[in-house]
Amino acid sequence: MKRNPINPYLLIMVLGITAMLLMSFKGIGDMKKIVSKTEGGEEKTEEVALAPEQLYQQKSCVACHGADFQGVGSNPALVGVGDRLSQDEIIDILVNGKGNMPAGLITDEQAPEMAEWLSSLK
Ligand code: HEC
Repeated sequence: MKRNPINPYLLIMVLGITAMLLMSFKGIGDMKKIVSKTEGGEEKTEEVALAPEQLYQQKSCVACHGADFQGVGSNPALVGVGDRLSQDEIIDILVNGKGNMPAGLITDEQAPEMAEWLSSLK
């Protein structure tokens, strides 16, 4: 029986095409993974709750109340605020502002956790 001379080439070609397809499919798969990662990452920065310490930095509390909560200029220190004010009073100030302190820096949802954290500052 005579061996078909085309077979080896055909085999290599089929293997080559298969490999190519596999790689491009894998490439598409990787691309999706990267995209979903950045989407997830963006969601994180927007939706996942920030710790009060992070809010303190990001919502410019630090500019008026200082890095050590000691107060800046005429803005009061926050150290020991838990002894002066109740949690509810702190929440009210955080949400509605007071005097020169702007309202709405943090959301209603963030306020209770932040008030608790502020009360623990010593
Ligand atoms: C523009 C400056 C400014 C920024 C920004 C600011 N505050 Fe204030 N904050 C004040 C001032 C002024 C007061 C005092 C208000 C008053 O008693 O009339 C105050 C009062 C407070 C009090 C009550 C302190 C006390 O002993 O009566 C708390 C708690 C507080 N701020 C927390 C925060 C937090 C948390 C943030 C960030 C989300 C923040 N502040 C951002 C200026 C600021």
